[in-house]
Amino acid sequence: MSYQASSERYDTMEYRRCGKSGLKLPVVSFGLWHNFGDTGDDDNMRDMLFTAFDSGITHFDLANNYGPPYGSAERNFGKIFKEDLRPYRDELIISTKAGYDMWEGPYGNWGSRKYLFASLDQSLSRMGLDYVDIFYHHRMDPETPLEETMTALSDIVKSGKALYAGISNYDGIHMRQASAILKDLHCPFVINQNRYSVLDRTIERNGLKQAAAEENKGIIVFSPLAQGLLTDRYLDGIPEDSRVRTDGRFLKADRITEKTVEGLKKLNGLAAERGQSLAQMALNWILRDDVVTSVLVGASRPSQLLDNIKIVNRSPFSGEELRRIDEIAAQM
Ligand SMILES: NC(=O)c1ccc[n+]([C@@H]2O[C@H](COP(=O)([O-])OP(=O)(O)OC[C@H]3O[C@@H](n4cnc5c(N)ncnc54)[C@H](OP(=O)(O)O)[C@@H]3O)[C@@H](O)[C@H]2O)c1
Repeated sequence: MSYQASSERYDTMEYRRCGKSGLKLPVVSFGLWHNFGDTGDDDNMRDMLFTAFDSGITHFDLANNYGPPYGSAERNFGKIFKEDLRPYRDELIISTKAGYDMWEGPYGNWGSRKYLFASLDQSLSRMGLDYVDIFYHHRMDPETPLEETMTALSDIVKSGKALYAGISNYDGIHMRQASAILKDLHCPFVINQNRYSVLDRTIERNGLKQAAAEENKGIIVFSPLAQGLLTDRYLDGIPEDSRVRTDGRFLKADRITEKTVEGLKKLNGLAAERGQSLAQMALNWILRDDVVTSVLVGASRPSQLLDNIKIVNRSPFSGEELRRIDEIAAQM
């Protein structure tokens, strides 16, 4: 039987505006970096996408090279989209990116106009879409002139193949430069995608968080749970079905040190005092002010998404709680 979305899907989710744009995103978005490649399970992919959408998660995030192999997450998403999600296209924000290595030769990486145009065409074809809602430049390119990359983004939006432009992994200075160029081009640049969590404060140090607030741009935070570290997954060893064991490319076993687990246990205790799971507290911490638009979580099963969306009912932190989180994180 084909999928029928829950009639209650908009009852509880909260939507935040991306900076001062017209685009609203759910405070929890869902990323398909892991578990959607050809090594993933088809039924599980469907269950996760449907659970997400039934819970008001209207935003699915992809990139050209998500897999493995590269491109397969877009292809697998496209198959499910075609079979079950197409009737809901106008309720969905689907994003993809180009900027990392995708195909061989000089035109399948970084930030040239040639790469961005070709990559988006490939992504649209794999997903079976006419357009994406957000197209990102995936990382800063130290060699291609920023004007070229930003003009390509702007022209892509003008072509109708993307509705909004975004940039990912930029620091504050380069984001301000990009923003100025895109403003001149009247391009709807609305969002930054960056890593941020209790354990990774880079965007506070490199000026991105402040620049986004000042430029009225959104931030969607990736790896908000530090790839699963900031959950109950690794409190008692390394489970066989965890990312460390099932993938191991990006979250490696040597990250699970005694010191890390000790810190995670302390954070878990603090979360329990607040009546939250560790994952919920970690997401709550990112959304503690208004600067971040959405936390972009990954999942290996639907129940994790259901746990994570409970932060819609989050509670403020006391100064003392924030101090304790900083103190514990600094020791990890
Ligand atoms: N722009 C970029 O450069 C960039 C880079 C990385 C990611 N991203 C985007 O960000 C998305 C999310 O990244 P991420 O997957 O690293 O995010 P994450 O949310 O930090 O980690 C997701 C992992 O945490 C575990 N998890 C999630 N919720 C849980 C819960 N409630 N209880 C226990 N464990 C839970 C699962 O691990 P197990 O598999 O162990 O169960 C899941 O696979 C990606 O899919 C992608 O769209 C973008």
